[in-house]
Amino acid sequence: MSAAPSPALSDRLRSATSIVAFTGAGISAESGVPTFRGPEGIWAKFKPEELASMDAFIRNPALVWEWYAHRKKIIAGIRPNPGHDALARMEEIIPHCAVITQNIDNLHRRAGSRTVYELHGNIERNYCMKCGTAYGNDVVLGKPGVPECEQCGGLIRPDVVWFGEMLPEEEWDASIRAAEGADIFLSIGTSALVYPAASIPRVAKQSGAYLVEINPEPTPLTPLVDEFLQGPSGTILPLLCDELVRVRGVSTTGKQP
Ligand code: OAD
Repeated sequence: MSAAPSPALSDRLRSATSIVAFTGAGISAESGVPTFRGPEGIWAKFKPEELASMDAFIRNPALVWEWYAHRKKIIAGIRPNPGHDALARMEEIIPHCAVITQNIDNLHRRAGSRTVYELHGNIERNYCMKCGTAYGNDVVLGKPGVPECEQCGGLIRPDVVWFGEMLPEEEWDASIRAAEGADIFLSIGTSALVYPAASIPRVAKQSGAYLVEINPEPTPLTPLVDEFLQGPSGTILPLLCDELVRVRGVSTTGKQP
């Protein structure tokens, strides 16, 4: 175990045409978004079935909205960290780069990543449960209580995947295709416990990708990976990107146009 890429990974970085990142709450921890599991995690303080399910919303929409409004405001006030930035820089160098994320915080797009598949939705989006009309946070957060659709009066909900709900089909299919085509697959900041998303790194491995995990702690995926880079992604991903730049002899601006 090490925090630095091995010579084998450097070789892969030199020749890869496709690098795919699969991210979880850990990549956003250094931006100030709490993770889900562990003693300080969100699920240590709140019960998922009382806040993040359709049953909970039907039972108590005001409580669910209060919680999401609180998280929306926190997330609006934070910024991508060097881990998100490094993935966006890699996309400038590698022809086929994709980020598959379980996070709803939109930080990959805000960092400049363009090919982003959001498996669990996006907290900046909302929609009417009755007619499907989409709403931004500017509209819903401006209304007191539970926001209602301007078109049909239906209840508006956050565009996130709740417990018991299906993952969005297009994002799922695109994620599987990206995993199957990856030369290097990076599993970053995820406990790799929540299925079906957690099956994606396994698909990449079975399809021949060099599987790398970046996490301060081992996970159930660790025994399967080709390389475990142990430490925070805000430190390790910039090192990996610097190595990519070095072995390819290219430069990046560090900024997306
Ligand atoms: P978890 O909270 O389960 O796991 C976070 C992971 O990030 C752990 O393995 C930590 O060790 C790691 N970590 C912590 N700090 C880190 C850092 N600075 N750099 C890198 N890694 C770090 O979060 P997820 O795996 O994302 O689902 O959880 C998956 C899903 O479970 C979420 O998308 C959410 C939740 O219930 C839904 O809401 C549908």
